[in-house]
Amino acid sequence: LRVAVLVSGGGTNLQAIIDAVENGTITNTELVGVISNNKNAYALTRAGNHQIPAQCVSPKDFETREEFNKVFLEKVDELKPDLIVLAGFLVVIPEEMISRYRNKIINIHPSLIPSFCGTGYYGLKVHEAALARGVKVVGATVHFVDEGTDTGPIILQKAVEVEEGDTPEVLQRRVMEQAEWKILPHAIDLIANGKVTVKDGRVSIAR
Ligand code: GRF
Repeated sequence: LRVAVLVSGGGTNLQAIIDAVENGTITNTELVGVISNNKNAYALTRAGNHQIPAQCVSPKDFETREEFNKVFLEKVDELKPDLIVLAGFLVVIPEEMISRYRNKIINIHPSLIPSFCGTGYYGLKVHEAALARGVKVVGATVHFVDEGTDTGPIILQKAVEVEEGDTPEVLQRRVMEQAEWKILPHAIDLIANGKVTVKDGRVSIAR
């Protein structure tokens, strides 16, 4: 499976994917490229450290969002991906890309969707909201990307306990370590081995 990974930040989810491919946890997969909207994203360095072609395409470099969308989609198409993974990617995916890659784009969101998701819920904000609500369990979700925000068919979820005295930063780290870095590689391996099907907006996973 030709997998392209889109990133914006530190790239710890990308690192988890790279490590999983290298240690055989993810099979039948080739990481064909990494694209970031942020030239300073450490994720680009992580890709370079593992000889994965990495590039930056930023909306800041274009007059209009339409211009960016056109070039961005061209760069993605050039990689000829079978699967596109959003790993901490913070730019809205162009509609044309969503329809062209229907059920071929997946995203990792740091909550148990449908809690704490949608516009405005990203990064630390997700965990601040969870602590403010006083939930006892949080977690992460891998889902297919559709036209909405965090609304596509759910592939995998993993729960994480909230502990006394958790700060947003501590909780975010636990969710990343115990959930995100496990279910994202697992979802890629399932898809690479043809175990995932979508019907009526719901995902079934073959054993
Ligand atoms: C983190 O907030 C993570 O929860 C979310 O994306 C952000 C950056 O992750 N999935 P990464 O370290 O760039 O993978």
